[in-house]
Amino acid sequence: MDLFLDQLARDHEIQAILDDQSIEAKERNAFSPPLCEVFRKPSTQLKDGNHPFFIDPEARKQLPNIINNNVQYIIDGDPDNIEAIKQYTKKQRIGIAFSGGPSPGGHNVIAGLFDAAKKANPESVIIGFLMGLDGVMENEYIELTQSGVDYYRNIGGFTLIKTGRAKIDSPKKVEKARQTCKELDLDALVIVGGDDSNTNAAFLAQELSKDGIQVIGVPKTIDGDVQVRDDNGEVLCAISFGFHSAARFYAQEISHLGSDGSSDVKYWHVCKVMGRVASHIALEAALQTHANMTLIGEDLIDYVDKERLAASQDKNEIDFDAYGVSLEKLCEIVSRAIVRRARYGKNHGILIIPEGILEFINEIQTFIIKLNIVIAHYNMHHDTSFHLDMPTLDEKLAYLNKISQKGGRYTIWRPQDNDLFNTIPAFFREDLLMERDNHGNFPFSLVETERVLMGLVEDYLDKLFEKGEYKIGIQRAYFEKTMQKGGLSPQTLGPILFQSYNDTQKPLLMKKNIISEETLRQVLIQADQLTETENISPAIIKIFKKSIPNFKTRLHFYGYDGRGSNPTRFDCMYAFNLGFAVFSLIANGATGQMAAIKGLEKDFMHWKPIGVPLAPLMHLEERKGKLSLVMEKSVVDTASPAFQVVKRLRERWLAANELPESYRKPAPIRINGDTEEDRPMTLSLNGSDFLKTILNQP
Ligand code: FBP
Repeated sequence: MDLFLDQLARDHEIQAILDDQSIEAKERNAFSPPLCEVFRKPSTQLKDGNHPFFIDPEARKQLPNIINNNVQYIIDGDPDNIEAIKQYTKKQRIGIAFSGGPSPGGHNVIAGLFDAAKKANPESVIIGFLMGLDGVMENEYIELTQSGVDYYRNIGGFTLIKTGRAKIDSPKKVEKARQTCKELDLDALVIVGGDDSNTNAAFLAQELSKDGIQVIGVPKTIDGDVQVRDDNGEVLCAISFGFHSAARFYAQEISHLGSDGSSDVKYWHVCKVMGRVASHIALEAALQTHANMTLIGEDLIDYVDKERLAASQDKNEIDFDAYGVSLEKLCEIVSRAIVRRARYGKNHGILIIPEGILEFINEIQTFIIKLNIVIAHYNMHHDTSFHLDMPTLDEKLAYLNKISQKGGRYTIWRPQDNDLFNTIPAFFREDLLMERDNHGNFPFSLVETERVLMGLVEDYLDKLFEKGEYKIGIQRAYFEKTMQKGGLSPQTLGPILFQSYNDTQKPLLMKKNIISEETLRQVLIQADQLTETENISPAIIKIFKKSIPNFKTRLHFYGYDGRGSNPTRFDCMYAFNLGFAVFSLIANGATGQMAAIKGLEKDFMHWKPIGVPLAPLMHLEERKGKLSLVMEKSVVDTASPAFQVVKRLRERWLAANELPESYRKPAPIRINGDTEEDRPMTLSLNGSDFLKTILNQP
C-alpha cells in the first residue's frame, strides 16, 4: 500500500474529509420515508375500481390478455383469508430493470420493492437487470443485497443497476426476454420507465402472461409526461417520479442566475431545460423562480396571428399559416418582450426555454416529422443505416436534394421542403438530421435550440434598433444629474432628446429617430442647441451612449445534471411507496398494470396506492415512419389552473416597468424541513379547489 495513503487512513478527521460518502449521503441513507397506512399492515389485497377509459381498437387487438384490466386499489389484506396470506407470503423471484433516462428516486423504487418483498418473505429474491432492457434480453443481472440497496437509499441516479434505452419491439427480442425470465425462474418482471418503457411493459405483459410471468410498470421520467386520468377526468397518476427533483434542481440554478443577473445587469440568461416535447418542467420552473419569460410549447399551438388572419379573410380566404407559431413569429414575441424591459432600463433578464419547444414551431415540427419518415424509410429499404451511409452533412443534404427532385415515392420531401430547409443555418440542419433513438424519438436535448432561437432574436432586435424601437430607458434622476454636471439644462434638453420627457409617469427613452451620433447632431442643430461647427457636449454623448442597447446573452442547458440530482423528500417518499405498490400488485397476482399513487396533489395522508391498467393508456402514433401502438404522453394542458396562473402572472414577472424584479428563490433539495415547494407546485395548483372555482372549472 502507498505509505502516504496508509498514513492518511490513521487520522479520523482527514479520513472523514476524504470519505467517498459525504455526511449528507449517510443521512440520506438513514432516512426512512414514511409509508402509506396500507403498507404498514402485514399484507394487502386488491380491489377493482370503477374507472372508465376510452380504449383504442388497436390496443384491444394487440393486447387482448390485459385489455380488460381495471384500476386496482391496494387495500388492507384480510388476516382471516389463509389462502390469500399464503399466496402473499410465498417466496418470490422478481426482476427489475430501469429503462430510459435516469430520474431521481429510482433507487427508492428498488428499496421499496426489496423491503416489501423481504417483509412478506425474507427468502424472496430481487434481481436487478443491468443496463435496462438490454440486461433482460442478454440475461445480465445482479442479485440485490441488503447492503447494496442500503447504500443507494434516497440517493439520485440509477447507479446500482444502470439503465438503457433498448426497445423490445420484435418477436425475436420478446423471445430473448422470455428466455431470460424463464431461466431465472422469475415470477414477475418490473419495468421502471417513461412512456416508451411502459409501452414495452404492456407488450411484455401481454406476451409473458402466456408463461404465467407477471409484468408491472412504474411511472418514471423527469419530463413529467406520464400522467393518467380516467375518462371522467379523475386524476389517477398526477406525475411521474423524478419530475419534482429535476424541476427543483433546475429552478434553484435558474434562481441563482436571477441574483447574478439582477446584480450585474448586463446579460439575458437563456436557460434551456430538459423535457422532451412536453413543457411541464419549464412550467414548474416558472412557478418556482418567477423568471421574466418562460416559453411553454403547448401554449404556442394556440397562438393565432390575428392580423394575418384578418388580412386573408378580407380576401375571402383562410390563411392556415396564421395558426400556431413560426420561428420568425416566436423570435418577434421574445424580442418585443426584451424591448419592453429595455425601455425601463432593464436590458437583462431570465428566459426559460423547454427543450421540446421545436416540436411546437410550425415549420420545424414539419421538418422533424418529414425527416423522421425519410430516415425511417431509408433504414427500412437498405441493409445499413441512413447515418452510417451518409455520415457528413453534405452527403445527407445531397441525398435530400436528390429525393426532392424525384417525386413519386418520396413525395414527403418536395422541392419546396428542400429549398426551405436550405435557408436555415447549417448547424441547425445538422441537428435536425441527427440520429433518432431506438423508439424513433427525435433527440431534442442534443439540439442547440437556445442558440438557434437567440441568434434569430438578435437579428430581429437589430431590425428593431434600426427602426429606433429598441432603446434603453434612462432614469430621469440620472439624466438630470448628468446634464447639471455638464453645465446643461435638463429642462431644455429633455424634451428635445426624449419622446416622453414631459410625462413624468413614462420611462425616458431617446427619440425614435436618434439612432446614431449623426442623427443626434441633426436633432440638436434643428433645436438650436448646437451649431454646425460645434462638438456635441460629452454629457449628451454619455446619455446617448447609455440609450444604445448592447444585447448580450449567456446560454445555459439544464438537463443531465438535474436528472442525476438527489431526490427531494417528495420523490423519496413517492418512489419508496411505488416500490411497495409494485410488490403488492405482484403478490396479489396482477399483471399489465402500472403502479401509481393517487392523490399526490394532496397531503401524504391522502395518498392511495393503486394499479393503473396499461392497455387503455395506449394509442396509435407515428414512429419510425409507421403507426405504432404506444403509451400516450401527457403534455401541458393550457386550461389547467397551473398554466392559467402562470399566464396571468406573466406580465408581472416580465417586470417591463419601473418596479423591482419578482424573482423567487426556491429552497435547495433536501429531505427535511417544510417549504411551499414540498410537492410540485403545478400539482398543488392543479389540485386546488379554490382555483378551480375561480377559474370556473369542474
Ligand atoms: P425518459 O423519458 O427516458 O425519462 O428520458 C427523458 C430525458 O431526460 C429527456 O428529458 C431528454 O430529452 C432525454 O431523456 C435525453 O435522452 P438521452 O439520455 O438519450 O440523451
